[in-house]
Amino acid sequence: ADDPAIPRGRQDLIPRRARAGTRAAVTPFSVRMPIPPVAQPMMSAGGLDLYTIPIKPANADILPGVRTPVLTFGGSFIGPTIRARTGRAAKVVFVNQLDMAANVHLHGGHVAAADDGHPMDVIDPGRMRAYNYPNSQQGATLWYHDHSHHMEAEHVYRGLHGMYVIDDPAERHLRLPEGDYDVPILLRNAQFDDAGALVFGSPFDRATILANGRPQPYFPVAARKYRFRLLSVASEYTFRLGLGGVEMKQIGSDGGLLPAPLPLTELVLGTAQRADIVIDFSRFAIGTQIVMTDATSGTPVLRFDVTSRASDNSRVPNTLRPLPPMPAATVERDVRLSFDFFSGAPVGLVNGLAYDPNRSDFTVKRGSTEIWNVSNGDSAFGIPHTFHMHLVQFRVLARNGGAPLPQDAGLKDTIELPPNSTARVQATFTDYLGRYAYHCHYLEHSTLGMMAQMEIVP
Ligand code: C2O
Ligand code: CU
Repeated sequence: ADDPAIPRGRQDLIPRRARAGTRAAVTPFSVRMPIPPVAQPMMSAGGLDLYTIPIKPANADILPGVRTPVLTFGGSFIGPTIRARTGRAAKVVFVNQLDMAANVHLHGGHVAAADDGHPMDVIDPGRMRAYNYPNSQQGATLWYHDHSHHMEAEHVYRGLHGMYVIDDPAERHLRLPEGDYDVPILLRNAQFDDAGALVFGSPFDRATILANGRPQPYFPVAARKYRFRLLSVASEYTFRLGLGGVEMKQIGSDGGLLPAPLPLTELVLGTAQRADIVIDFSRFAIGTQIVMTDATSGTPVLRFDVTSRASDNSRVPNTLRPLPPMPAATVERDVRLSFDFFSGAPVGLVNGLAYDPNRSDFTVKRGSTEIWNVSNGDSAFGIPHTFHMHLVQFRVLARNGGAPLPQDAGLKDTIELPPNSTARVQATFTDYLGRYAYHCHYLEHSTLGMMAQMEIVP
């Protein structure tokens, strides 16, 4: 039923349960979960890894029996995982073979403004562009995606997403599961038509959940510990992941390791967020099947099949990595995310203004520490938002004046902002200068203007 508080024609902005779409019915656990390919450097020399990745259309095997036209990094629906190392730079040359402009943003990356994939700084069709990633930050699970203004929502939906892992040699002594036992899982949802083509419609009609690009796959595991790097690229969706009561240990979030593992039976994973978890399968007999379900949609996401034994000298120590010190903040700002529904087509706003690439919304002094009070200005409409900052990882100090949520733990770059909520976050702007975006990471919202930029100055 229509909600009368929402202007006519924009009922698609109302959050509701995903409903079964065409072709949503796939026999669960009929395909194996693939692991995205790992990007291979073309050259490694002088402390630098050089990669070349085309941005190109492809036909992907997503649903059994049909092929789905998608946009890709490197030809694969889930782009190649770039495995970087702290202290070793990467240069990634993206070659745009699409017939439209695109670009690349390293989400969670600490990079110079010129390499950040600013929404207006695009790669024209037939051109290429080198992005320099210094990897000066500590270990973290990041991702890369298109950020070309007005096209970001559709481009990412159609497949311009991939994972970027920074491995930190300083974390090796922890002996967390690694190698074959360190597995990226990119979660999203999608809507398909009868021919298997992706439908870029309302985010609320995306009833098919995909893990590494396949619907409800199974994944054979050995009876030992695994580290899974979970990333959600589903827009306007919150996964509530559980293993039927089996414990998982969250060890990392957006910006890398938590100070200590967090035992969970349900993991809340919102748009663009990452959570590294360890699951210990050693207590299960061979033949056991453990289903990861999503309580939001009430459907299985994937099934772990314990099929073999394996030795395991990995651990999950009780202390992982201390959080960086928090200098005292010297500036406080308010940031309010909302829509203007009343002047024609809806326009996304930050502090009452739609995105203008020629305007700096905030001037931030390099080296300073700031507190931003972020709020949802659409509470009356029941519309949730998210908040994402480029360049920095922040800390959530408070939620609605009280304690942060479990999913706010550690270093964050994206948080959910449900109706009637505020969040108080703190960030330090250490070194780079220039213009960086902050925005709602529901890319349908940033596409409509819910984005702003800060200028970091000396
Ligand atoms: Cu994930 Cu401004 O981006
Ligand atoms: Cu929003």
